Amino acid sequence: MKEWSSFDKITKGKGMWLIDSQGNKMLDAVASMWCNVWGHSNPELVKTISEQSKKIQHSSMFNLTNEPAEKLADSLVKISPGMHKVFYSDNGSSAMEIAIKIALQYWKNLGDTKKIEIATVENGYHGDTFGAMSVGYVPEFFGKFKKQLFSTIQFPVPNKYRIPKGFTFTDYQNYCLDKIEKKFSKNNNIAAFVMESGTQMAGGVVIYPKGFQKKISQLCKKYNILFVLDEIATGFGRLGSMVQYEEQKSIPDIVAYGKMLTGGYLTMAATLANKKVYDSFSGEFNDWKHLFHGHTYTGNPIAAAVANQNIKMYKKNNLIKKIQKTSKVFEKFYNELYQIDIVGDIRHKGMLMGIELVKNKERKTPISPKKSINKIFFDEGKKNGIYLRTLGNIVMLVPPLAIKESELELLLNKTITTIKGAKSKVV
Ligand SMILES: Cc1ncc(COP(=O)(O)O)c(C=O)c1O
Repeated sequence: MKEWSSFDKITKGKGMWLIDSQGNKMLDAVASMWCNVWGHSNPELVKTISEQSKKIQHSSMFNLTNEPAEKLADSLVKISPGMHKVFYSDNGSSAMEIAIKIALQYWKNLGDTKKIEIATVENGYHGDTFGAMSVGYVPEFFGKFKKQLFSTIQFPVPNKYRIPKGFTFTDYQNYCLDKIEKKFSKNNNIAAFVMESGTQMAGGVVIYPKGFQKKISQLCKKYNILFVLDEIATGFGRLGSMVQYEEQKSIPDIVAYGKMLTGGYLTMAATLANKKVYDSFSGEFNDWKHLFHGHTYTGNPIAAAVANQNIKMYKKNNLIKKIQKTSKVFEKFYNELYQIDIVGDIRHKGMLMGIELVKNKERKTPISPKKSINKIFFDEGKKNGIYLRTLGNIVMLVPPLAIKESELELLLNKTITTIKGAKSKVV
């Protein structure tokens, strides 16, 4: 905390740029925490917010519903193969808490009291609330609360850059999957397997090898375990497809969306479940099968209206196709990035790039300066007119999805200048 004497006040946003109270402009390299889609102050989204506020700004979803939330639920079910119903919340962590609660209660509703354990992968991240911290345990973030968290069964994830000695990448993938199958075959108490869809984000941009997620979904089916996916950071186009689990050929029982759902304009998240799961919650009052969960702003009409407009714009602008094309710009910079002697690895998919920084390329030792890496890169980025954040020793490029090719080139050039500029401060 003491490293930060003050913070810049952002007073305006225009397109891909953030503007502070002094008039300084910064290119938003992290889509304002991975959620912005169309850039800032988009007139169509701003108009939607204003128009919906004149009708009804908020009414509760306890005993009632509202038009934008109903419409959004229909759209979400349509774009999400296999899903049947939607449960709203107002942030990704809550959406995952809800997913975990639904998965655990599903078995109780069926009368199975033994299935109470959650399986997951090492270094997953699902948010900062206690359930989400338990399931998505990243030791550096949550170590101080370890005793208060519930235990989960964790499996390793193959990261091509850091394969344990003696394994090829393929061997290691098989080893990880075998470990999962062995456990599943012996343990009948596993209620659900929870993982991020497509890639681990906060855990270090670990992009799953082809078939890995699919195989886990198959194992879940084989051993009667619910498969729960977190698409909060990776769905809605971030990895180049609207619904990442479709690309991964791994239909879940429960999935969560957040961040880009409203284009990054208002706070809303959603947990979707398939019919099998939904039906288990349906009963007479005295059966007590319903889900005791609800937030004040659940299904907020302004947030839902802006999400509806956002989805309409994805279709109208053919955004997913555009992302697939723009994403190729990243590839043009691989060589130049690798030439920097602290760049150990580059992991890229869609509109996501993680640049892993090391002291020694051969030994792959992560950089470990005395000061915060994030602060060093934030300060250096600011000098170059770019808003950058790092996660551990990884520089994260997570730009607004509708960024133009020329703007993405500028962003990559500024990132290269920033890494070179920060080099002497981190090794
Ligand atoms: C994969 C994933 N799940 C859940 C969350 C939590 O979302 P929120 O910050 O909206 O609570 C995040 C946030 O970064 C995330 O990356």
